[in-house]
Amino acid sequence: MLPGEGIAGSVFASGRAYISREFARDERLRLSDREHVPAGWGGACIPVQAMDEVVGVFFVSCPLPREIQPDEVKLLESLARVAGITLQRMELHEATERRARQLEALHEVDLAISGTLKLDIILDTLCRQATAELEVDAAGVLLLDPSDLTLRHTAGYGFRTQTYQRSRVRLGEGLAGLAAVERKALHYPDLRSAAPEFNRKELLQDEEFSAYAVAPLIIKGNIKGVLEIFKRTPFHPNHEWRGFLEKLAVQGAIGIENAQLFEDLQLSNLKLSLAYNATIEGWAHALELRDKETEGHTRRVTDLTLHLARAIGMTEEMLVHVRRGALLHDIGKMGVPDEILLKPGKLTEEEWGIMRQHPQYAYDLLSPIAYLHPALDIPYCHHEKWDGSGYPRGLKSEEIPLSARIFAVVDVWDALTSDRPYRKAWSKEKALEYLQEQSGKHFDPKIVGLFLNMINEGTIGAG
Ligand code: C2E
Ligand code: SIN
Ligand code: SIN
Ligand code: FE
Ligand code: FE
Repeated sequence: MLPGEGIAGSVFASGRAYISREFARDERLRLSDREHVPAGWGGACIPVQAMDEVVGVFFVSCPLPREIQPDEVKLLESLARVAGITLQRMELHEATERRARQLEALHEVDLAISGTLKLDIILDTLCRQATAELEVDAAGVLLLDPSDLTLRHTAGYGFRTQTYQRSRVRLGEGLAGLAAVERKALHYPDLRSAAPEFNRKELLQDEEFSAYAVAPLIIKGNIKGVLEIFKRTPFHPNHEWRGFLEKLAVQGAIGIENAQLFEDLQLSNLKLSLAYNATIEGWAHALELRDKETEGHTRRVTDLTLHLARAIGMTEEMLVHVRRGALLHDIGKMGVPDEILLKPGKLTEEEWGIMRQHPQYAYDLLSPIAYLHPALDIPYCHHEKWDGSGYPRGLKSEEIPLSARIFAVVDVWDALTSDRPYRKAWSKEKALEYLQEQSGKHFDPKIVGLFLNMINEGTIGAG
């Protein structure tokens, strides 16, 4: 189906959701689809967006007389947003993996000279090695800035003055610019007598250089810059010397590429982790949309949990997962029908049976997602109790993961001090009394103690 064609195509082209009372009678339906679409079914078609681009559509349908309502479309759109972000995250993840493979191959070759991924250290080592091994007075690197095709000073060793640091040579100009464009090393035994093209005259004056050589730094066909060699006495290089200069240039180019790839990789990892977090926040938001009463609950319990976890001494690395787990703690309620979740009164035995499945649903939903594995403790174990009377597994005391023990205190605190479909909010005093009373029953006594102290000291906001 082409963009613009039929229901799916028109939603795709416009980027706007569309509700159809009955697909079979919808004038937007393609003629050729009429016979395949059963009568009496309507629904909605929702665009799936990644960033600002529509990448697909999805349908929901139901038999008349039920009709999809505009507020349901809002929820569907938010799910579609999550799907779009997820697609994007997967793409980013693949790109990162590709880069990581390239990096690994390069790294092996380069390890001998660099042992580091810092560009300035690599280039400094390169210049020192060149000066020592080629038995010259100074060596420097000009790197190409692709945005203005200019070679600029980046590293140097053996210079007496600051003059070299001002080196800027346009591609194609001067000897360095020529070597870069022609992609070959150039040698000048005595610059003063025989090199009118060398346009950094002040360098000759200030540094009293005589012999000069320049080799392009090329990797996989891309010019990265040049390696320049200076000697204060005239010098005729032999074949072996020239060969070694070229080897150094190859190693230098690998080192540069390596460092630049690493910088890119760090950037993609950062982007990837932003995309992960956006996905999770999208899910958390979708969950809250379902249950107006819990609005803001997720944010509050996440903040409080992180605060406590930090006070208890969990590392920043662990906190990343604690945060994700807290945001997703009740994602399993996605598997609990509205009649139960939003019921104004007490649950029946049978309804409780379903409600108590929500940590298990969360586990089933999240465990196939590798990056969320370390975040499972809270969604899976937040209803376990210290005395072993909780669910789903009836874990006891320290069998319950630390993050889930912390979270349980915070979750109940926030639940009690908020309105729920099934009861009004409790007062702060009553809730605090309840937490204290449940110390050693529902909650880890140490954690309740810390929590109550922090609330009493005003270290954390109460309600
Ligand atoms: P929730 O509303 O987010 O509550 C989380 C936890 O806070 C509860 O886990 C419970 O430990 C504590 N809590 C909340 N409200 C009260 C309360 O009024 N009294 C006491 N003593 N503790 C409270 P729990 O009990 O495992 O419930 C899990 C979820 O099941 C609740 O999440 C809620 O979505 C649902 N639920 C629990 N009781 C009822 C109910 O009577 N009616 C309905 N419709 N849903 C309920
Ligand atoms: C349409 O997209 O135009 C009709 C719906 C379908 O065939 O799935
Ligand atoms: C249709 O059937 O034409 C669209 C809705 C669906 O896929 O069931
Ligand atoms: Fe829960
Ligand atoms: Fe909760």
